[in-house]
Amino acid sequence: MTRMLSEILEQPAVLVAVEAKNKAVLEQLTCVLKKRNVTHAVLAGRGTSDHACVYGQYMLGTYPGIVAAQGIPSCVTLYNGRLDLSGAAVVGVSQSGKAADALALLERGRGQGAVTVAITNDAASPMAGAAEFHLDCSAGPELSVAATKTFTAQLYLFGLLAGYLAEDEGLLTALRELPGRCPDILDAARRAAEARAPEFCGMKDGFVLSRGFCYPVALEAALKIQETCYIKIKGHAVSDFYHGPMAQMEPETPVILFAGRGAAFADSAAMLARLEQIGAKPLVVTDDQDLAGTHNGVLLPGAGMEAAGVFAYAFFAQCFAQALSVSLGLDPDKPRLLNKVTVTR
Ligand code: AGP
Repeated sequence: MTRMLSEILEQPAVLVAVEAKNKAVLEQLTCVLKKRNVTHAVLAGRGTSDHACVYGQYMLGTYPGIVAAQGIPSCVTLYNGRLDLSGAAVVGVSQSGKAADALALLERGRGQGAVTVAITNDAASPMAGAAEFHLDCSAGPELSVAATKTFTAQLYLFGLLAGYLAEDEGLLTALRELPGRCPDILDAARRAAEARAPEFCGMKDGFVLSRGFCYPVALEAALKIQETCYIKIKGHAVSDFYHGPMAQMEPETPVILFAGRGAAFADSAAMLARLEQIGAKPLVVTDDQDLAGTHNGVLLPGAGMEAAGVFAYAFFAQCFAQALSVSLGLDPDKPRLLNKVTVTR
């Protein structure tokens, strides 16, 4: 078994422990953010951690109403610009805790009196030490170059933070119920991914599409396939795809579409119809029985409300990339030209 797969399979055990491990910090952080009336947040991470930040934007914006934007580290690291982070929450996300660019933003923020938060998988890392608050993925060592269990732990922490801040019992209940359902969800995702991935062995390029809360998972699915299979594939929001990328579509272009039920479902179904109209046959991954049954579909069990449902698609994406990499005779644990820790500024 690859290391990547064994780390994927650890996710139910990781997620079940995340809230208990971080409850005290989440409560203190929530209290401070409310007391200081923080209404905007700047998030920074690279690669997979950047995709977790995108999920954070959706969650913080939708639930507690915090305007969250991706930070631009170059404003600090290249230009020593005037970036004013005072009054904001600055959140650095890095499984290793060694992302120098996100760290530079955190340090700038801390120097200016911002509320600083690090989400890492290493409490002894530079980033964890630089922030006022540390949220711990507590995922155990992640040795495969392809980040998997730390990604879903990062998503889960953003979800909890949004739930605590918004005092949204519906969201918190969905997140708390999720780990108990994870073994079944992960098992179904794995079986489906392993059954379908070999069909994609000839893929040279392609797209992964989704919308809303699941958009960051489309970005992450594409990155996982890029790094473990060396395929030129890109993730897009369904809404953005109409604004240019669609012109690249040909009937044989491979597309994976994550179409979970919820507010984004109608748009994803409309995109599926549009792509089928031009002769394409997207692989549609969904928790909607009708859609899965009447198209080139994969049915995943629902994971509750839409915001928590993304975990099922993340599991599928990880298992799909892993299985495709193995089918191609590659080693997903050691992608060429990559290291586990990449420091950029
Ligand atoms: C993830 O599979 C990649 N190996 C890579 O994109 C990684 O997420 C990125 O380098 C960021 O690493 P960090 O979370 O340790 O900062």
